Amino acid sequence: MERRRFGSTKVEVPVIGQGTWHIERADRASAIAALRRGLDLGMTHIDTAEMYGSGAVEELVAEAIVGRRDEVFLVSKLLPEHASRDGTVTTCERSLARLKTDWLDCYLLHWRGHFPLEDAIVAFEQLERQGKILAWGVSNFDVPDLEAAWRIAGPGRLACNQVLYHLKERAIEHAVIPWCERHGVAVVAYSPFGAGRFPGPRTVGGRVLQQIAAAHGATPRQVALRFLVRRAALFAIPKASRAEHTAANAGAGDLGLAKGELARIDEAFPRGPRPRRLPML
Ligand SMILES: NC(=O)c1ccc[n+]([C@@H]2O[C@H](COP(=O)([O-])OP(=O)(O)OC[C@H]3O[C@@H](n4cnc5c(N)ncnc54)[C@H](OP(=O)(O)O)[C@@H]3O)[C@@H](O)[C@H]2O)c1
Repeated sequence: MERRRFGSTKVEVPVIGQGTWHIERADRASAIAALRRGLDLGMTHIDTAEMYGSGAVEELVAEAIVGRRDEVFLVSKLLPEHASRDGTVTTCERSLARLKTDWLDCYLLHWRGHFPLEDAIVAFEQLERQGKILAWGVSNFDVPDLEAAWRIAGPGRLACNQVLYHLKERAIEHAVIPWCERHGVAVVAYSPFGAGRFPGPRTVGGRVLQQIAAAHGATPRQVALRFLVRRAALFAIPKASRAEHTAANAGAGDLGLAKGELARIDEAFPRGPRPRRLPML
C-alpha cells in the first residue's frame, strides 16, 4: 500500500483508506471484519463522523480498532450545527468517548454552517494543544471557504479538505485541487465509487476501465481508485462493509497506471465545466 505525506502533517497516510458512512446498516460482524481486513492490508486511514448513524458508526469503529489504535489514522467530523467554540470542544470529546480513544489523528468540520469559521478553528487549535486531536481540516470547502480558513488559521495549519470526487464528478479539478496543491493541503476523495453508482460495464467509460483493468489483472474499481489518487495531494476513502470489497480496494494501493492509460480515463470521463457551487452529497 503506497503511503504519502498527508497535507501539512508530518504523517504518511495510505493513498486508499476506508469510509464508514451507512456501515451500521450492514451486518455488524461483517462490517467490523471488513474494517479489520482493511487494516491488515494497510488501509489504516479510517474516516467516520458524529453524523454517521447518529454516533453508532463511531461506536462500531471503536470495536473494529480495539487493540490496534496505534496503527490507525483516525478521522472524525463535526456537524456544522455543533461548530460553536464550546460546541466543537464538547462534540469532539463525545466522539472520543464513542471511539474509545484519547485522540483523533485529524478532526474535520463536515461542511460550513452558520457559526463563524473562527469558532471552530479556535476550538480545533485548543483541542490540538490539549493533544485531543493531532491535526484538523475541513470538508466540502470550495476555494473561497478554503481562503477564509487559511486567513484565520495562518499557513500550515489546515491539513486536508475532504470532498466529493469520482470519475463522473470531477468538479474539484477546476480550482479546489490546484488551490490545495499550492497550499500543501491534502485532498481526500469521498464517494470515490459515486456512492454505489459506479460506471457499468456496458457504458463507454466502463469499457475503458475494463480494458485497462484487464491489462493489469486488476478490476475497474481498482483502476478508478488509482486514477483518483494519481496526484501527490490526493487520497481516497472508499467504503466497504464486506471484507472481499475491502481487500479488492486495497489492491489499488500499489497499482501503477501508465500516462497513456490515465489519458484514456481522462477522455472517457470528461470533467465538464466548472459548476457555480461545489457539489456535495
Ligand atoms: N465529507 C462528506 O461530506 C462525505 C460525504 C459522503 C461520504 N463521505 C465519506 O466517504 C466514504 C465513501 O463514500 P460513500 O460511502 O458515499 O460511497 P463509495 O465509497 O463511493 O461507495 C460505497 C459503495 O460501494 C460498494 N463497494 C465498495 N467497494 C466495492 C468493491 N470493491 N466492489 C464492489 N462494490 C464495492 C459498497 O458496498 P458494500 O458496503 O456492500 O461493501 C457501497 O455500496 C463514506 O463512507 C464516508 O466515510 C464523506
